[in-house]
Amino acid sequence: MSKPAADSKPVRMFVALDLPDAIRAGIGTWGEEGLGDPALRPVSRENLHITLAFLGNRPEQDAERVAEAIEQSLAPAPLVELLDPVGRPPRGRPRLFALPALSPGTEQLQAQLSQILISERLYEPEKRPFWPHVTVARVRAEGRGSRRPSEVEKPPGGLPSELLEPFYGIRVVLYRSELQPLGARYVPLAQVKLPGAGGSEVI
Ligand code: 2AM
Repeated sequence: MSKPAADSKPVRMFVALDLPDAIRAGIGTWGEEGLGDPALRPVSRENLHITLAFLGNRPEQDAERVAEAIEQSLAPAPLVELLDPVGRPPRGRPRLFALPALSPGTEQLQAQLSQILISERLYEPEKRPFWPHVTVARVRAEGRGSRRPSEVEKPPGGLPSELLEPFYGIRVVLYRSELQPLGARYVPLAQVKLPGAGGSEVI
């Protein structure tokens, strides 16, 4: 368990389930063509994950308590099955494309984690139910100063068969999100490897 450094300025934080490198690489390779529409901004492969809890802007010293909550909510590595990409919102022009994830284990892990974070006053739960997914691309705005998403003429097609095979999530990570002109950069502040992650990755 790596410990976060203490500081007091607010930082944008979220907790995520990390995917094995082979899966991130596979999505990245599929996306070179599958997410090739010029209206799409593909998520870079190192940023692919399943968000468990978006904490928003919090003082950096909260990171240590979030790290403790992650340790307390530890569960066996969840089995994850990805599905073909869908646009969100489902009606009108999509703002993003994501791979829905079938994973009762991730739902259980998220429920435990969110319960602890809420009781520690580190997290305000979402009003909508948890939807496990991997965001693979965001849709560019139609024009400068517009919030309306562009039209995507060639939406992403299906995944190759190897990405439809189930795999184990490997670790739970607290990330700091730095919004930059060329896209977000996610910096791990603390991470816990999940027991029984299939030995697929050593960290
Ligand atoms: P997304 O994958 O569904 O877009 C870092 O920004 C991560 O936190 C992203 O994976 C994003 O989820 C999620 N996130 C960002 N802003 C959020 C918000 N306002 N509410 C919930 N999740 C958010």
